[in-house]
Amino acid sequence: MNKRKILVTSALPYANGDIHLGHLMEVIQTDIWVRLQKLQGHDCIYVCADDAHGTAIMLSAEAQGITPQQLIDRINAQHQKDFADFLIGFDNYYSTHSEENRLLSESIYKAMDANGHIERRSIRQMFDPEKNLFLADRYIVGTCPKCKTDNQYGDNCEACGSTYSPAELIDPRSAISGATPVEKESEHFFFDLPAFRDMLRQWTRSGTLQEQVANKVSEWLDDDLQQWDISRDAPYFGFEIPGAPGKFFYVWVDAPIGYMASFQNYCEKNAVDFDAYWKTDSECEVYHFIGKDIVNFHTLFWPAVLTSAGYRTPSAVYVHGFLTVDGTKMSKSRGTFVNARTYLDHLNPEYLRYYLAAKLSGGIDDLDLNLEDFAQRVNSDLVGKVVNIASRCAGFIGKGFDGMLAAQPDNPELLADIQSIADEVAQFYEKREYGKAIRLIMTRADAANQYINDKEPWVIAKADKQSPELQAICSTGINAFRLLVCYLKPVLPGIAAQVEEFLAIEPLLWKDSEVILSSHRINKFTPLITRVEADKVQAMIEATQRDYESKQASKMSQTEPQASTLDNTGFEAEIEFDDFARVDLRIARISNAQHVEGADKLLQLTLDLGPDKNGDPIQRNVFSGIKSAYSPEELVGKLTVVVANLKPRKMKFGMSEGMVLAAGPGGKDIFLLEPHDGATPGMRVI
Ligand code: 2FM
Ligand code: ZN
Repeated sequence: MNKRKILVTSALPYANGDIHLGHLMEVIQTDIWVRLQKLQGHDCIYVCADDAHGTAIMLSAEAQGITPQQLIDRINAQHQKDFADFLIGFDNYYSTHSEENRLLSESIYKAMDANGHIERRSIRQMFDPEKNLFLADRYIVGTCPKCKTDNQYGDNCEACGSTYSPAELIDPRSAISGATPVEKESEHFFFDLPAFRDMLRQWTRSGTLQEQVANKVSEWLDDDLQQWDISRDAPYFGFEIPGAPGKFFYVWVDAPIGYMASFQNYCEKNAVDFDAYWKTDSECEVYHFIGKDIVNFHTLFWPAVLTSAGYRTPSAVYVHGFLTVDGTKMSKSRGTFVNARTYLDHLNPEYLRYYLAAKLSGGIDDLDLNLEDFAQRVNSDLVGKVVNIASRCAGFIGKGFDGMLAAQPDNPELLADIQSIADEVAQFYEKREYGKAIRLIMTRADAANQYINDKEPWVIAKADKQSPELQAICSTGINAFRLLVCYLKPVLPGIAAQVEEFLAIEPLLWKDSEVILSSHRINKFTPLITRVEADKVQAMIEATQRDYESKQASKMSQTEPQASTLDNTGFEAEIEFDDFARVDLRIARISNAQHVEGADKLLQLTLDLGPDKNGDPIQRNVFSGIKSAYSPEELVGKLTVVVANLKPRKMKFGMSEGMVLAAGPGGKDIFLLEPHDGATPGMRVI
């Protein structure tokens, strides 16, 4: 066999957010491909890292009152745990904020500069005079110059879709401080991308890209290619550009270099020759798996940077589409923006690996995770077809034959037929046509089940549980199962490991599908996987929703209304009458009030909303951010106004079942709304 030497990467997740289903789709796609290569005996190294630099991470650390290093260390540990629990087999998981990456970034930059591909020139940019920070477009908000909708981001309007420059925004504000930005000049460093137009045209058409991607890239190359701005001014969390104090590499410069740096770190630990993979005439293969939103960085800038600095270009960039849930973009409020950890709290990771594999193709179409279909598919394929084969045969082998498989299977043709698809399945995996691989495997699972149905081993066992025929039939079933698990091993490594234990065999390799187990003793069968329960799926969605709502609620209780949510008269954006009519405002009496341990701003109120239909008092527990203005004692007995139909929200300190209304700028000046005497608890506010 020709042993390939392959380096594989997935896109580097940002170090300021949780791993979610979108990340998981990508790493699962990559991991399946890598596992196939390894099972086939190739030398395949899979590296990744956190993408740790940039303004967002700097601001996020600042908001949390910690250093960027503390933030990225904490997130790195979480990311690694999440990925490990989804059985993602990285050979190295690193960070772009590493010494290897600093040195590589510096040397690549110096080579680009020495080769005449770096230009310096001054540009004018929006600057936040309060934060002393240049503002990227997404950190500027204002009123759309076309349709006059407020709170639009710096470069495009979500309401009317028009694009513009931040300077055109009416009443622009810094989204960070609320200050009015000013234009300021500073020197930036540019990479001469247009010098690589011919090289990129050729690279794009040399089989490195999927056709649709190559077409898109060709359009860009035919278009007006701009030089790429690779520097950012301090303050910035990243690497300082050598010889340019106060100038930093833009995060997208050192992020892909982070692939190399993570690999270099692996090489150091495992005595692998880094240069063998990255020199221009390397025979090793390098593949990047990415989403379609970051194609330009990987197919224009990255190959050009590598070429400028004297390195090889990637063998291919494999692009996938977006993940949707139940037909639409993942949404926090609908609870479909599911974090890896929330999924793991409720469901088995291999369900997701299987479902995504069953739907993945080598194209760039979006993939829909339909939650009903998810449960149904996993239950019918994995539980109902694959595992069912083993559970229908294993017991008879255990009881009647002390775990010993027959010397000869009853139906060698069936097994030979399952063996015959090994190459085709491998080819489908290799081309990332996992859905086709799964469908092909399932045709053979169906055939094996049909065979068992026809042979009815349970009928034979009733008459004679030691019948040689029964042993041969069940041995055929067990062997069919083993072959199917071998084919599914890239997708289901955890289940495969359990099966290897059950079958008392060495870890399966791809070529093991060439042999059949005979006269071999297997262990007792224990259930491998349970059915997906719909209520667990629902619980996962609800947990995601609760998490989102409690974050929103704590934001609301901890911050003053943002100036940016107000229109130019100082009021919130208009709502329809119906929106208002849905708010059920009631009079409530504060029957108890107390401090909340550990909370700076909150008081815990018990509200009496009058009697229910049976005359029993309706009581509500509400956390309210009014501690700076009221002591608990002075509140007890007061009447106030409460939003009675606010959905209960889980807050850090417990459930909050409504909201009391107050006015004022904050601090000591918060005034609880108090109705006139005569109002009684439960009365509707009209
Ligand atoms: O889009 C993103 O999430 C980036 N953090 C991906 C970086 S991939 C690579 F270039 F580093
Ligand atoms: Zn607009």
